[in-house]
This record gives sequence, C-alpha cells and structure tokens, in this order.
Amino acid sequence: MVYDVVVIGAGAAGLMCAAQAGYAGRRVLVIDHANKAGKKILMSGGGRCNFTNLDTTPGHFYSENPYFCISALKRYRPEHFVALVERHGVEYVEKAPGQLFCAQSAKEVVRVLLTECEWAGVEVALNTSVSWVERVGESMRLATSMGAIEAGVLVVATGGLSIPTMGATGFGYDLARQFGIEVLPTRPGLVPFTLSDTWKERAAGLSGVSLASAVSCGERCFVEPMLFTHRGLSGPSMLQISSVWQPGGSIEINLLPGEDANAALRKARIETPKRQLSTWLGERFPKRFVQALLEWYPGRDLDQPLAQYSNEALAVWAQRLNEWSLKPAGTEGWRTAEVTMGGVNTDAISSKTFEVKALPQLRFIGEVLDVTGELGGYNFQWAWASGVACGQAC
Ligand code: FDA
Repeated sequence: MVYDVVVIGAGAAGLMCAAQAGYAGRRVLVIDHANKAGKKILMSGGGRCNFTNLDTTPGHFYSENPYFCISALKRYRPEHFVALVERHGVEYVEKAPGQLFCAQSAKEVVRVLLTECEWAGVEVALNTSVSWVERVGESMRLATSMGAIEAGVLVVATGGLSIPTMGATGFGYDLARQFGIEVLPTRPGLVPFTLSDTWKERAAGLSGVSLASAVSCGERCFVEPMLFTHRGLSGPSMLQISSVWQPGGSIEINLLPGEDANAALRKARIETPKRQLSTWLGERFPKRFVQALLEWYPGRDLDQPLAQYSNEALAVWAQRLNEWSLKPAGTEGWRTAEVTMGGVNTDAISSKTFEVKALPQLRFIGEVLDVTGELGGYNFQWAWASGVACGQAC
C-alpha cells in the first residue's frame, strides 16, 4: 500500500493534520492502535472537552524553545477552530474567561474531526499497530498489522505518556531516537499532588473541600481554586503549579489571595474584639476547613475572642493563611496527568512545516513534541495549530 501521507495517531493533532493534507489532495491514511479515535478528546474537560482558549498566546506554553510554537499558533488561532465547530453545528459555552467547552459532549469534537477526515477522503485504520519504521530512499516504510505501507511523508502524532489505559505509549519518542533526534526528559504535568504522613491524613479528612488559592513555585503563581483529595491536593491551581514543580521542592499556598490576613485580623481585633477567631475564619472558609485549621494548630492560641490574641499570635495565624509552605510527596503520575512535559526536542523540527530538518519525510506534531500548554484549552489549541501547519505543508 502506498500513501502520500501516513499519520500515526488518530488523536487531536493527527486527525486535524490528516484532514488538511486530504483537502490538499494527498492520499492520506491515519493509523491508531486504539479501538476508537480521539479517546483523550472524549475524556477531556470532564467529558465536555475544553477545546480551545481564546486567550492563546505563546506565553501559555512550556518548552525548551519558547519561540517554537509562535508560528503555528499565529497561523491557526482559536477563532479558526471556533469557526470550524460552528460550521458543524456544535454548541459551546465559555465556562471560565476564554475557556470554551462543548455545551453537550466531547463526542461532538471527535465527530467534527472524523467528518472533516471523511470529507477530505482520509482513510482511518483503527486497531492497527506499527512494529517497524524505516527510511527507504525518499520514502518511509512501515511494517504494520495491516501489512507493509509506504509513505511519502510520515507524521508522528502519538501524543504523550499520560493515561496509558487510554492508549498512550512512548512510540513517538522511540521513533525520534531511532532517527537520531533528541528526546528531552519527560515528566507528568497538570497532575494532582500526593502528600505523605500527617498531611496526607489531613487532606483525606477534607476530601472534596475546595478553596480559593494563589499557589506559587519559583517565579510562577496561579490564582485559581484548589481541592483536597484522598491522596493530597488537586484543583486548577495545583494542576497548574505541578507543571513547574520539581520533585523534592516546596509550593507556597496563599489561602486568602488578595487579602493581607495580618492586617485584616488586627483590624477585626479593633473593630470586633469579642468575635471568636473561628467566626472570622468562618467568614472566609468552609466550616469543615475552619474546624480542620483549629485541629491542625492547637495550643495557646486555640479559638478565642480576637481581643485575646497578641500581635505575634495574629502574625502566626496570618502566616498560616497567607504563606502556607508545603512539600508534596510527589504527584499521581502518568495515571492521572493531563499532559507530558518535555518530549521531542524542537531544535530538530521546522516550526513552519513540522518536518525533521534533517529528514523532511518525517514529521512530529502535537503533544509528542516538547511543547506543553497550561490548563485551560491551550493543549488542544496546540494540537489543532501544529496539525494544520503540518497538514497544509504535506
Ligand atoms: P493524543 O493523545 O490526543 O492522540 C495520540 C493518539 O496516538 C492516540 O489516539 C493514541 O491511541 C495513538 N497512539 C499512541 N501510541 C500509538 C502507537 N504506538 N501506535 C498507534 N497509535 C498510537 N487539553 C485541553 O486543551 N483541554 C482539555 O479539556 C483537556 N483535558 C484533558 C483531560 C485529560 C484527562 C487528559 C489526559 C488530557 C486532557 N487534555 C486537555 C490534554 C489533551 O488531551 C492533549 O494535549 C491532546 O489530546 C494531545 O493531542 P495529540 O493528538 O498530540 O495526542
């Protein structure tokens, strides 16, 4: 079998790329070892797929080369994908500023992509594995479970390592290495933290409680809700900061973002001296959390009228609320991570066509590359943008 373009990976980037190449008149085959196309799309955004972010800029992506993503993101912008889903009659909602989700189901995004592929004459082979890839002259040859295939261009869109049960593999990285391309170290990103010992028990006791937070690690800070879980901490702010956190490091949590707790406590002590500390806390946090705080920090300064607290005691409480420093034990790992940090080094890749500079018949797109977005629809926008740029250049 001979194709102009073979894409490995029927995920977000692969399907987008295949449709574009098909529309450009190429004979295109998409191969995936999974039994369904777009499995990660289906499970994304809680089943509603946060398919783009209207505020997409290169600053929302992590990469050794922060300039690499600029060209593709400029050419294919969020409004282009919005126009595409609108053409297919998909209703969507802006759940948080800039974050667009399907109003009904993530299935609709997969339907859009598969319909586009069908209209573009793309063949999709599911339940198909690739055992070997080699370069033969100007083409790429693949040994697959459906037989030998020759491709003018081979596009690798096999994604990252997260959620192995959904079909994630390191195939793309192995292939890169086979052709002498560096793969930067990978680690889970957008992933919940685990805690150990006392803090694990404490978090478990509060499982399901969500709080406003500003969570920092080094230079980065995310002001979004956090969530206690049975194993540790999750929620948007924790997922975001997990992408910059390094094992062994600490995170700083401000539980009262935008409020100077020390100043507020001193003011309350003057204005309402008879008010209990727990009442003051109860105006800012859920009841379960206030109870937990008083249990975590027993002692002389246990719940009393505010007038009883010295400046030092208020400062200690304020520090607990504004500057809680915590050392996570680790993360939940690939099992629940949304993305993979690191990956195929973009130095080897053209940012315009996504071809390997030293071997233009081979291309890498989407998450397999060392380009990872923050939480909020950026990762799909990268998949669409890199897929379109590559597909149009095939
Ligand atoms: P993707 O993973 O989509 O596709 C890769 C394909 O390659 C898969 O179909 C896989 O089966 C196939 N494959 C892998 N190895 C293979 C092999 N050896 N042979 C054949 N096929 C192979 N992002 C976002 O922007 N908004 C969101 O709401 C979410 N939500 C979300 C939730 C959860 C739970 C996860 C895990 C991830 C998200 N993401 C997200 C991230 C987003 O899903 C991810 O960045 C994109 O799917 C990446 O698109 P790709 O096409 O690169 O890989």
